Amino acid sequence: MAKKKQHTPKPGSGVTRRGFLGSVGAGAAAVATGVTSRSEAVPEITDPEEMVQTALKINGRLHRLLVEPRWTLLFVLRERLGITGTKAACERGECGSCTVLIDDRPRYACLTLALEAEGSEITTIEGLLEGEELGEVQQAFVEHDAFQCGYCTPGQIVAAEGLLRTNPAPTENEILHGMSGNLCRCGAYQHIVNAVTHAGENRKDGGGS
Ligand code: FES
Ligand code: FES
Repeated sequence: MAKKKQHTPKPGSGVTRRGFLGSVGAGAAAVATGVTSRSEAVPEITDPEEMVQTALKINGRLHRLLVEPRWTLLFVLRERLGITGTKAACERGECGSCTVLIDDRPRYACLTLALEAEGSEITTIEGLLEGEELGEVQQAFVEHDAFQCGYCTPGQIVAAEGLLRTNPAPTENEILHGMSGNLCRCGAYQHIVNAVTHAGENRKDGGGS
C-alpha cells in the first residue's frame, strides 16, 4: 500500500528548476548524504599512471578529463564533475536510480564505464530542463505528485524520457514494462504511470520537445 504523501506540489504551480530540484532533493538529502559518504562508493586513485584522457559529451557540453579505466560513469558524473542529479543507490544495477540516457537509450550509469560512453551523447536529469524551466516530463511528475521521498525520481524521469523518445504514446502496460528497471520504494507507481501518460499526450499534441 502506498504511504501517505509527504510532499504535495500544487498542479500548474509554475515550479522552477531550483524549486523542483530543491523539493526533490530536500526529502532525500539524508539518503543522498549517506550513500555518497560510503567509502566503497568512491574508488581510490591507486595509480596515476593508469589515468587516461577522455572527453564526455554531457547535456550538450564536452568535458575533457582524466579517468581511471575502471571508473563508472556514475562515479565520474557525481564525484569528478559534480553533476549530482543522477542518484547513487544500489550501485549494482538493481534499482534504476542512476539512469541516464546514452544516445537516447536509458542506461544504468553504475554499470557503465565512463570510457564506454566516450563519443556518445549523455543526458542526465539536468539536461532535461528547458532553460530555467522544467522539461515536460519533469513538469508532469510535479503535476501528478509522482514522487514521495524523491530519491528514485531523477532516474524515473530520465527513463520516462527515454521511453517517450521511442514511443511517444505508450499504453499503461508499455509504461510499466518500459520502466520496469526503475524501482520506487515509496510505491508511487500509479502516479508515475499517470505522469508519463500525460507527458506522452502532451508530446503527441506538439506541446513539448
Ligand atoms: S544505482 Fe545504478 S541501478 Fe541502482
Ligand atoms: S519516491 Fe521514494 S523511492 Fe520513489
